[in-house]
Amino acid sequence: MNGQQSGGLSALILAAGNGKRMRSKKPKVLCEVLFKPMICWIRDWCLQAGISDQCVVISPEGEEIRGHFPQGTAFAVQQERRGTGHAVMQALDFLKAHAGGDVLVLNGDAPFIDGETIQNALTLHRREQAAITVVTAEVEDPTGYGRIVRSRKNVSAIVEHADADDAIRAIHEINSGTFWFKVDFLMDALSRLGCDNAQGEYYLTDTVKVATRAGARVRAYCSENCDIVLGANDRRGLLKLNEIARRRVFDRLLDAGVNLLSTDGLIVSPDARIEPDTTLYPGVIIKGKTMIGSGCTITSGSVIEDSIIGSSVTVNCSQITRSTVGDGARIGPFSQLRPDSHLAPGVKIGDFVEIKNSTIGEKTSVAHLSYIGDSDVGARCNFGCGVAVANYDGLHKNRCVIGNDAFIGCNTNLVAPVSLGDGAYTAAGSTITEDVPGDALAIARARQVVKPDWSARFRGSRINPEK
Ligand code: UD1
Ligand code: CA
Repeated sequence: MNGQQSGGLSALILAAGNGKRMRSKKPKVLCEVLFKPMICWIRDWCLQAGISDQCVVISPEGEEIRGHFPQGTAFAVQQERRGTGHAVMQALDFLKAHAGGDVLVLNGDAPFIDGETIQNALTLHRREQAAITVVTAEVEDPTGYGRIVRSRKNVSAIVEHADADDAIRAIHEINSGTFWFKVDFLMDALSRLGCDNAQGEYYLTDTVKVATRAGARVRAYCSENCDIVLGANDRRGLLKLNEIARRRVFDRLLDAGVNLLSTDGLIVSPDARIEPDTTLYPGVIIKGKTMIGSGCTITSGSVIEDSIIGSSVTVNCSQITRSTVGDGARIGPFSQLRPDSHLAPGVKIGDFVEIKNSTIGEKTSVAHLSYIGDSDVGARCNFGCGVAVANYDGLHKNRCVIGNDAFIGCNTNLVAPVSLGDGAYTAAGSTITEDVPGDALAIARARQVVKPDWSARFRGSRINPEK
């Protein structure tokens, strides 16, 4: 079935634990590291290891987690929190559908496991034909973790900290919470788990005892990277994870030729891609799957999220969300590109400009204090200061269309829907409510009236005695 088709690989992510100590309304696994929920790190590591067939065990309070996975992901709901073994039991249907294959089981709250470790552990698992392969690490302080009890090559038991005596507590090799299981072995072992232990829970780790009793092989893949075990139980722990992840991203950026002046206040998403010779100032925040080309300058206070930025772009203290920016564009200071804004190469966006759901053609300039929403703007247009698109009539959003080489005078209001042809002009201060043909000038404002001496009479004195 499904399991066989994908090479028999699937993943089961345990995410039904509660995160009381986070003091969050959200499920713990949705707490974020570098703006990315912890469980999404796990989701992506599995994908990177080639495992797209995933099942997530959630609690009844964890419904929100579903939205972070693609369609076709399986979910199992654990009604009561009765341990990691019990959590896996809830996914029995998923396991049955993958009989004959191998399943990766991992914790939803340890974001630093990685694709390579998952693959290396699988290689060992298959080579050794193991029933279980547990990913372990040697850590300085093993307190709280399950200890790995070895008898030569084999792992004979994993003993939880709460159940361990002093001799076992002295072991520094610990269970990371990530395992490969033969699916058929796992299904059988689950039916043999009890909950006679210090916490009265069904421990997934007791499947090791089941294997030992049955003479099946249990192997450990000991990772050199101790961070793989790290999770967060409270906000202090979460901050620590953020700091570790942040440093790691910097290392990658520096290796890739990105220029960092200082890392103060700089936060870059693990999923961002930035090309060489781009400079990030301190205090820049890059979120989500942002891509930035080479030779760009991004200055302090800029926040860029899920956007694609070309090469040689300047973003000066501005915000860009779910938008694209062509090569050589300049943005800011203090401007904002809201979702679905698309700037062609060479566009200039100056200060205090907001663009939303609009396309702006090559080399068009919107230099000051303007709002462009729901519009398609051609190339080489010039927007004077203070242009506003009135795109919302209180009920509907309407679009404006502006051709190439148009000149929009200062303080023009474009009351959508309205279109301006190529080379059209609008006079400063016009409120444009009708289409303007190409090469025409539209003046839509009251004609100026001058009343000589009116103010002198009003004041009772002259300012200008010459007259
Ligand atoms: C578990 C392991 C321990 C290991 C450690 C690594 C067991 C018995 N112990 O301990 O050996 O060193 O992880 O971090 O497996 N969960 C559920 N339902 C439950 C309980 C937990 O879905 O009823 C999920 C949690 O959301 C979490 C994961 O399982 O993602 C691990 O649970 P947690 O309570 O943190 O396990 P530990 O006691 O830390
Ligand atoms: Ca834990």
